[in-house]
Amino acid sequence: MLLFLALFAFVDVLVSQVHDINTDPLTQEELNAKIAKLECIVNTLGNQVMQNQLFVEERVRSDGMSGVKKVRLYHEGTSPYFADTHIAQSAIAIHDHANYDRTLGIGEFIGVLNGVEFRTRHNDYKLKQPSTVTKNYHETEDIFLPNVPPEVLHQYTIQDQITEMREWYRAFKEQNITHRDYRPYFKPIICALEGAWTLSKDLEESFPSDRHHLDAKTWADMAEKISYTSYTGSKHNLENFAFLPSKLYSMEGGVPEYAQWNYRVICHPLSFDIPTSFFKLEDDIGHRLATEMDLKRAMNSRAARFKINEFNQERQTIYTLLDRIMYELPGLDNYLANITDTTYGLTAMDVNQTGKALNAGFYHRWYQYSEAGAMGDSVNHRGFNDETLWVAMTTQPNIMPLSMNYCPQETCVRETKRVTFAIPLEIIYATPLLMWNPYNVAFYPEDPKTDPRAQGVTANGRNGGFTRETAYNGTNRENYYRTPASFYTSFDVEQDNADTAKGSVGVLDKNGNVQQMAASGPRIITPEIEGVGTIRLRYPIFPVHTDGSTIGRDLAALKEIVVRMYKYQHLLEQGQTVTQPVDADVGFTLGETYQNPPGLHAHEFTVSAADHALLLSGKNITVVTSLALGHTHELKIDYDSSRGFYFYLSCDGMDNCWDGHPHRLIKEF
Ligand SMILES: *[C@@H]1O[C@H](CO)[C@@H](O)[C@H](O)[C@H]1NC(C)=O
Ligand SMILES: *[C@@H]1O[C@H](CO)[C@@H](O)[C@H](O)[C@H]1NC(C)=O
Ligand SMILES: *[C@@H]1O[C@H](CO)[C@@H](O)[C@H](O)[C@H]1NC(C)=O
Ligand SMILES: *[C@@H]1O[C@H](CO)[C@@H](O)[C@H](O)[C@H]1NC(C)=O
Ligand SMILES: *[C@@H]1O[C@H](CO)[C@@H](O)[C@H](O)[C@H]1NC(C)=O
Repeated sequence: MLLFLALFAFVDVLVSQVHDINTDPLTQEELNAKIAKLECIVNTLGNQVMQNQLFVEERVRSDGMSGVKKVRLYHEGTSPYFADTHIAQSAIAIHDHANYDRTLGIGEFIGVLNGVEFRTRHNDYKLKQPSTVTKNYHETEDIFLPNVPPEVLHQYTIQDQITEMREWYRAFKEQNITHRDYRPYFKPIICALEGAWTLSKDLEESFPSDRHHLDAKTWADMAEKISYTSYTGSKHNLENFAFLPSKLYSMEGGVPEYAQWNYRVICHPLSFDIPTSFFKLEDDIGHRLATEMDLKRAMNSRAARFKINEFNQERQTIYTLLDRIMYELPGLDNYLANITDTTYGLTAMDVNQTGKALNAGFYHRWYQYSEAGAMGDSVNHRGFNDETLWVAMTTQPNIMPLSMNYCPQETCVRETKRVTFAIPLEIIYATPLLMWNPYNVAFYPEDPKTDPRAQGVTANGRNGGFTRETAYNGTNRENYYRTPASFYTSFDVEQDNADTAKGSVGVLDKNGNVQQMAASGPRIITPEIEGVGTIRLRYPIFPVHTDGSTIGRDLAALKEIVVRMYKYQHLLEQGQTVTQPVDADVGFTLGETYQNPPGLHAHEFTVSAADHALLLSGKNITVVTSLALGHTHELKIDYDSSRGFYFYLSCDGMDNCWDGHPHRLIKEF
């Protein structure tokens, strides 16, 4: 708006000048003076436009943190909490395209990175990482997918391979490296949202998708299309428009220079394992209320959003595991980045490695100055008050440079930097199913839109039917079905309209026999694996913009207190202990066992307030659980006050329950 006013004022000035010229012929000298004045005006206005842009960014920066703001609205209701936020049906509109070999579904969303608000196209990105061998702009490589454990491959029959493969999934689900050391085969990958002001003059597709692309010819064309859809409220059917702002960033020498915002989703295979127990559910309580989900159900739903908390308690932190994760991801110099940040004549140091300079070409939030000085040697955070601002510097000429004069003594230095920003979106575990091919079906990796061999898979109307004539003839990038369907018990998993994989299809093996196959690409949550259950493989960990506002921070505290009122009753006003009545029963769950027989189940039981008091005072008590799968258990239970654990000492008179329930009990209320 301010920009338009400025432009109008500018045009006004021009018109009055022209008018003057027409009515009153000017001498060359007068003309020169006018031109000089006009140049000055253009310069001033240009600078004002830059100020306005800065003002908008500063305003957004202080409104919240770098993060996701909203997804497209599909639901609303009689109360505001029914409407979609950063969750529609699923967090950040994630969904499956398991029939694609390496495609991860994420819908459209509005994001904020360091005060720049933008709207993405439908994302559906691929498992790619920056180039390991060049610094070329946006050059990427396919991420290496884990091998199949030799213990699976060495089985003689396919049935035995399936049985053995399930044990690897069980080990991963239970995080039991004694059962099978799954860590070399279940590898975490961090995928991040990266944004930057680029100098790209032509419309640029910054990351590939097998399903979506920016549907415009030029940046101006895209801007026009997005203005139209925003003005009319209409929607591009294929969700291929994006709002990517541009800005005037320099008026040096009176010449306006423009930059174009762009973003991409980029991944990196981590060099270390992340135990799944580090993922803690973020309580999106509005969505929970709208769908009447308790925390346990929310945890297993696609709406779940997580944070990484390796401390097993709530506390203040500086450098965390998430920093270590993001510091493995390079900015636009790719993995060859080697940049020391010496702004203000001080070297930025690595916070977690004493005496080592920070490689500012990788994503980081925290840094430390080597020399004590005006700044001290305190630890600093990027941004003024943005918890989730990860920054990487780059030498990439296509990224907008920004400069300032730094004058330590008499002489000034011109400091110039180019930076990009990122936030974590999700952690994905790559599993051996991505590569496992027990029936040895052919795979044609070429693009099925253009390559005749890849097209042969669906030639002559082949649609995955179960006859020789209709079964897929081999597999390609978008018909990636090579997991024996019998690996899963059923296909009873939560579905989303955007999902594309069919439950099971017929595929011809190399002998021309029809085999029943399931999709082998990445999934949020696997279908039920016999005797093991379902397993989550995608953990969205994106920050939410408004969580970084003062309201967001207080609301997080309020949610924590309200949902766990009993735990926090000491924080409530005296006489306001509206929590658990003293004589109320206390409820527990005897955790799930995946042992088969008897199959996946858990039990519940309650303890009277008097018995609970005994427990807390160090006495053992005996309870009988609820009935599940035709049996109950008699437990002798105890409380470990130092760790705050409830656990059973004996189960039906034995040290362990015969069907493998874990010892630690879950206190439900
Ligand atoms: C881990 O697996 C081993 C070997 O199968 C088993 O003996 C052990 O009970 C398992 N540990 C837990 C905590 O389930
Ligand atoms: C800090 O560095 C040490 C040593 O390299 C490492 O063991 C530790 O995990 C790091 N801290 C975090 C939070 O990653
Ligand atoms: C990074 O650059 C410095 C010199 O600027 C050099 O000494 C160092 O070996 C480089 N590191 C790597 C990993 O290339
Ligand atoms: C399947 O594809 C292969 C390779 O293109 C071809 O040789 C074979 O004849 C096809 N099989 C059928 C039944 O069409
Ligand atoms: C609780 O059970 C444990 C193990 O059976 C036993 O050592 C302990 O003495 C018991 N404590 C009480 C107070 O009964």
